[in-house]
Amino acid sequence: MIEPRVETASEQATRTWDLAVVGAGYVGVPLAQVFAEAGCRVVLVDVLPDVVEALNRGESHIEDVPSEALAPLVGDGRLAATTDYEAIRDADAVLIALPTPLSKQREPDLSIVETAVEEIAKRLRPGHLVVLESTTYPGTTREVLLPILERSGLKVGTDFNLAYSPERVDPGNQTWRTQNVPKIVGGITEACTERAAALYSGAVETVHEVSSPEAAELTKLLENIFRSVNIALVNELAQLCERMGIDVWEVVEAAATKPFGFMRFDPGPGLGGHCIPIDPFYLNWKAREYGFSTEFIELAGKVNENMPYYCRSLVSQALNHGRQRSLKGSRILVLGIAYKADISDVRESPAVKLMTLLRNAGSEVAYHDAHVPELTELGLASVPLEPQSYDCVVIVTAHSGIDYDGVVERAGLVVDLRNATGRNGTRNGKVWKL
Ligand SMILES: NC(=O)c1ccc[n+]([C@@H]2O[C@H](COP(=O)([O-])OP(=O)(O)OC[C@H]3O[C@@H](n4cnc5c(N)ncnc54)[C@H](O)[C@@H]3O)[C@@H](O)[C@H]2O)c1
Repeated sequence: MIEPRVETASEQATRTWDLAVVGAGYVGVPLAQVFAEAGCRVVLVDVLPDVVEALNRGESHIEDVPSEALAPLVGDGRLAATTDYEAIRDADAVLIALPTPLSKQREPDLSIVETAVEEIAKRLRPGHLVVLESTTYPGTTREVLLPILERSGLKVGTDFNLAYSPERVDPGNQTWRTQNVPKIVGGITEACTERAAALYSGAVETVHEVSSPEAAELTKLLENIFRSVNIALVNELAQLCERMGIDVWEVVEAAATKPFGFMRFDPGPGLGGHCIPIDPFYLNWKAREYGFSTEFIELAGKVNENMPYYCRSLVSQALNHGRQRSLKGSRILVLGIAYKADISDVRESPAVKLMTLLRNAGSEVAYHDAHVPELTELGLASVPLEPQSYDCVVIVTAHSGIDYDGVVERAGLVVDLRNATGRNGTRNGKVWKL
């Protein structure tokens, strides 16, 4: 057996790495870009030939990574993509950025990660560093990845290194990007942590080491559960405020003036994206193994999942009172359908849920979203923004670049679920706010 290369700290800090990033999605592509820009040679491994071909032409399908930034990296050989797992043989480190969805029964589905790790295990060699970046429950790296990798006959800590380092990318965030968001690293052994930390410190500004992969896995879940619970709190408050005739946005705005002890969360039509609606249930599931029930997660999930239904009833009331119409037969324009502003991702978007509910109630639903030209799930395409042609405009995602005053002026009725119109009060003329 070839002895794994033992490096001094200074060697680790100065040498460049050859990397394989498995999964060329919202996480994998920005990660590959950051490492390629830091001077590493990076190959992205993905199962989708179209994605791979486009990347090799220097074309990015991820909004946060413009093609203008990607193309030079591809041009000078620092970044490439392939569908062939053989590429990982030449890499020093393999970073896994694959989806970790929930099953239909809302239980963790690690099948994509497991399949990929089987492929990695076939090609594992002494000296390899493997890091899981996908969000998952505490124990995944040790209980799921490690046994598959050790089936190769190689031993962790001596022959190869294994660590967990959660991705914290916030798509669309121009301030906090992969490079300047601190990276949490927890390895199976101390040597694993050190090696992973050495890798990341060459490309990201701050690396924070923790004592185990489990601590790193739970850190990521804590961050997302924190958001889910606080969003649920303010969503519940929004419903109470509606009964009390208080503008919840005014209250949130005012509370946010407190310079300490308060963090602002805004109400909305529900949770979206591939993290916050899903990740808390990874912990919820794992906790059951310990006979423990995670009440906050359950309650937050319940409140947040109810929001599209609540918003449908708000649209119904607005139509009744504002236009003497029912949902059935009304023409409704949904403005903004991505799961958050200024991105094109519609995964788990509450807009899709709300549109489905409105349709089921008999409304004729169209949408306008310059970021999402087509919504195949509902067989719709974005229509021109002509508020005057509809009984009601429902602002679900407040993308920038929209003239919301103009929308209010031209529309007969507006339901604003994001306070995009900025009117004071819950019912202001033809504007109904969440
Ligand atoms: N998107 C985010 O904002 C975000 C933020 C932090 C963490 N995460 C986590 O990161 C992980 C990846 O998420 P994402 O948003 O990048 O997913 P994604 O769906 O955007 O990308 C995943 C990529 O993996 C590819 N793929 C699927 N099976 C494969 C296989 N067997 N081999 C190789 N490639 C395969 C897909 O074709 C796709 O291109 C998830 O665990 C997610 O929860 C996501």
